[in-house]
Amino acid sequence: MRLDVFFSSAQLQPPHLAGRVAVVIDVLRASSTIAVALSNGARSVVPLDSADAVMQRARTFERSEVLLAGERRMVAIAGFDLGNSPAEFKPAVVEGRTVLLTTTNGTEALAAAQGAREIVVASYVNFSAVLTFLRTALRGGNSITLLCAGHEKQFSLEDSACAGLFARHLAKRTPGLEVNDSAQASMLLDRRYGGHIERLFADSEHGRALTEAGFAGDLAICGEIDSYPVVPIYQERSITKLGPGRDR
Ligand code: MLT
Repeated sequence: MRLDVFFSSAQLQPPHLAGRVAVVIDVLRASSTIAVALSNGARSVVPLDSADAVMQRARTFERSEVLLAGERRMVAIAGFDLGNSPAEFKPAVVEGRTVLLTTTNGTEALAAAQGAREIVVASYVNFSAVLTFLRTALRGGNSITLLCAGHEKQFSLEDSACAGLFARHLAKRTPGLEVNDSAQASMLLDRRYGGHIERLFADSEHGRALTEAGFAGDLAICGEIDSYPVVPIYQERSITKLGPGRDR
């Protein structure tokens, strides 16, 4: 069995997905926002690649059933209900609604993970819930691909360190698990920060950009381990949370 980390979708090839469980990590902020939305009662999150695609899909719903959400250059798209700040996805806002979401890197990484046996969305906020799911997958003989969304197909510090946290916990309990060099490097990064996520975000380009753009509050939400313990599963173009009726 293998556990491989990819620092961006540019490195991914079909054999890295076929028959595997893929984990899409976009700590700042898409994965965190998706976990918050589902945890707070959204019916589902539908990732889409453009604002036009969001508006087109919205026409297939009653207006009251959907929320148009997403960002470009970190800022909410004009005319949309929500941006990509997890703080906006409150229970009173999202309960029972379908969120149509487009973001710069997160939704691209979800599209790139198509072809995996299962696709899970992970961040620090749902770390232990996803870890338990992945341990079960490994026990069932499934190899795992941890895909960092990165930034415009480039390396990003926070996604890679979060991948390292998963890799470290999974490798510790699975003797003989084979890991690639990116997984080794991600574990070194995780150890370097040793749980000081605020320091990690302060060192990361996107963390600093979000702070400068006035989203420092989002960093606090995205850095809180296990605060939204859901397992978001991406299946048939829609992300829903694993739970009664979807347990496997
Ligand atoms: C993305 O998907 O590129 C990010 O979530 C950007 C952001 O911070 O909104």
